[in-house]
Amino acid sequence: AETATNFMPEHKDLVSLRRAAESCRACSLHQSATQTVFGEGPRDARIVLVGEQPGDREDLQGHPFVGPAGELLDEAFQLVGIQRSEVYITNVVKHFKFTETTTSRGKRRLHQKPDSREIFACRPWLEAELSAIRPNVVVCLGATAAQALCGRDFRITKDRGKILPTEWCTQTIASWHPAAILRMPDRLRRKQMHEQWLSDLTLAMDTAG
Ligand code: URA
Ligand code: SF4
Repeated sequence: AETATNFMPEHKDLVSLRRAAESCRACSLHQSATQTVFGEGPRDARIVLVGEQPGDREDLQGHPFVGPAGELLDEAFQLVGIQRSEVYITNVVKHFKFTETTTSRGKRRLHQKPDSREIFACRPWLEAELSAIRPNVVVCLGATAAQALCGRDFRITKDRGKILPTEWCTQTIASWHPAAILRMPDRLRRKQMHEQWLSDLTLAMDTAG
């Protein structure tokens, strides 16, 4: 199967990678999405945050985590004392995947989970970002990121909040995806997930130095 490797630039610095990813056609997701949403942040970031894939707002604006999940992330940065500008924020999959539904209120684009082919096709971009940055800590937000970097058997419910070595970073930690916290219907459970999330982000920040 085709992967993003076929679209890699010769020099794998972040600027060249971002430019090359704009014309990636390694899977079909580029066909219906507006644009590639590449990672953003300093090339010497000590922390890299990895989400799943851009959502509706990210697709339209071209930046990662600028929708509702990004707002929760911004609030978390404030609470744990990290500047958004000091972390590198990216996703496992760089194009928005959705189904279009028509309701009485008009057309809506509903997020769809990327499948294993798309994750496999896109993962070279993430690997290249991590190789270019070599952060002290990688934080996986949600199961897609955690399974892409820590293996298919990784379970957020069981393994979140642990610092584990992976091929890409000796200190990799996974926690809840902010969208999963926002979607949780049970108020007490949501509060518990949010507290765990903040404590995992604090641990990541302390570990990164
Ligand atoms: N959810 C993600 O996983 N990534 C984004 O960039 C936005 C929402
Ligand atoms: Fe390439 Fe990833 Fe977009 Fe697929 S989702 S076309 S692999 S950048």
